Amino acid sequence: MTVNKTRAWKKLASHYKHIKNVEMKDMFDADPKRAEKLTLNLDNIWFDYSKNRINAHTLKLLLRLAEDCGVKDKIEAMFSGEKINFTENRAVLHTALRNRGNIPVFVDGKNVMPEINAVLAKMKKFAEAVRLGKFVGHTGKKLTTIVNIGIGGSDLGPVMVTEALRKYWAKDMECYFISNIDGTACAEILNKIDPEKTLFIVSSKTFTTIETLTNAKTCRKWLVDALGEPAVSKHFVAISTNKKEVEKFGINSENMFEFWDFVGGRYSVWSAIGLSIAIVAGMDNFEKMLDGAYAMDKHFRETDFAHNIPVIMALLGIWYNNFFGIKRYAVVPYDQYLQYFPAYLQQLDMESNGKFVDVNGKVVSYSTGPVLFGGAGTNVQHSFFQLIHQGTDFVPCDFIIPAISHNEIGEHHEILLANVLAQGEALMRGKTEKEAAAELLKAGKSKEDVKKLKRYKSFSGNRPSNTFLVKKVDPYTLGELIAMYEHKVFVQGIIWHINSYDQMGVELGKQLALNILPELSGNATGICHDSSTSQLISTVKKLRK
Ligand code: F6P
Repeated sequence: MTVNKTRAWKKLASHYKHIKNVEMKDMFDADPKRAEKLTLNLDNIWFDYSKNRINAHTLKLLLRLAEDCGVKDKIEAMFSGEKINFTENRAVLHTALRNRGNIPVFVDGKNVMPEINAVLAKMKKFAEAVRLGKFVGHTGKKLTTIVNIGIGGSDLGPVMVTEALRKYWAKDMECYFISNIDGTACAEILNKIDPEKTLFIVSSKTFTTIETLTNAKTCRKWLVDALGEPAVSKHFVAISTNKKEVEKFGINSENMFEFWDFVGGRYSVWSAIGLSIAIVAGMDNFEKMLDGAYAMDKHFRETDFAHNIPVIMALLGIWYNNFFGIKRYAVVPYDQYLQYFPAYLQQLDMESNGKFVDVNGKVVSYSTGPVLFGGAGTNVQHSFFQLIHQGTDFVPCDFIIPAISHNEIGEHHEILLANVLAQGEALMRGKTEKEAAAELLKAGKSKEDVKKLKRYKSFSGNRPSNTFLVKKVDPYTLGELIAMYEHKVFVQGIIWHINSYDQMGVELGKQLALNILPELSGNATGICHDSSTSQLISTVKKLRK
């Protein structure tokens, strides 16, 4: 039975008709304990979901939906290594990478933990050797510039986490990321670094991704031109599941850090893909991040759904997406170091749940993954927040707030905190035309102006947001936050009956690009395109002559 035919779904649909007109501010006024009741806590994270358009009955029905969809069994299936990524016949075991309890996890009858632990030990040894100047460059200089070459999951996790943990970096280290095939990405970084002090980490699960291999070849040539071919073994390491291709590229297996098919690209930051993090921020901090993720895994696996943070997050997302018809949401961390978190979550969420075919091969008749966007507050208050406050539809927001900043300077953090708390309150309460008029009159406006302006100055309110208050964004808390969103995405995928772990949607564009490439660079012709694409190809060729 498809999810929208279940009893819980139908009950939610009829309950929606009642609640869509209920104001959150009235629910707050009616129940002084609303915030207390609708807040969950794990370690140093407080998840306040009281500013949502829900009441106790909504929650009851949403929790029933999770039960009816077999979420509990699917969680167990994932953690225990069942091949839930059925289109690729793979287990989904990013959780095994941070299985700090070291409980055996079996794939095809083999415990995967010894291999995982061996790679972690190899990472630790290598990261420490680089940091201590024991593994040095070809000319004997310390390697203090780390350049990760990768794209998608082989880039976004390291980019996001190294930035989030910038305060933990070794003082003499710098770290860069090359992902885009645009030559500018390579050129701008190669222009400012010193080959003698640079370690390139080529990160690619498949080691066939054209962007990464092209960038890696360019960097390899740059290094060989400067230091000669023998320097490669001291300046290049690879992270991949594909030993054959790594060796073909010219990196020997001693300099390769392995991971496995059961780790999806966008879930791979916990694997050796995190090597750049371990080098610049230290393996101890990388391990603390794994510890945090493990704590969230245990919470997710062991806590009843009514108190389960990722499950509640997922259900709220379903509530807005499928009943209110709101197909987007925003994540806004009020922490400059988390500036890349929304971009990271964009891949995690949209590559996982942007699917229109269900697990039975049928086209779904309800909407699945929403559009996720965001950016660091307070900056985004001055870009897209106008629409969030006064646009025609609401946009559910996740606000992430650290109570303590890594840089407590003067009043900066209090001002930042006041801003984010004000956003949640303003979105929820809004401002009536009457209130706007009173304010305008008080400000000395004429009656005529008040009449003219009051509607523009009013806010509908009743716009939902979640608040994640954390003590401080340390490695442990960061690990918890990332794992929390991973599990949210997973639960939504279960309810929508889709496979959250493949990404076939990115293939068609790649295939067509391979057709077009010879037309652009050579004389290949005769490939049939639509008139727009043909015209664009010929104009590009003329312009590049
Ligand atoms: O964008 C598609 C994708 O396959 C992602 O899932 C993945 O993270 C990225 O490409 C990079 O792939 P690879 O690590 O194999 O180079």
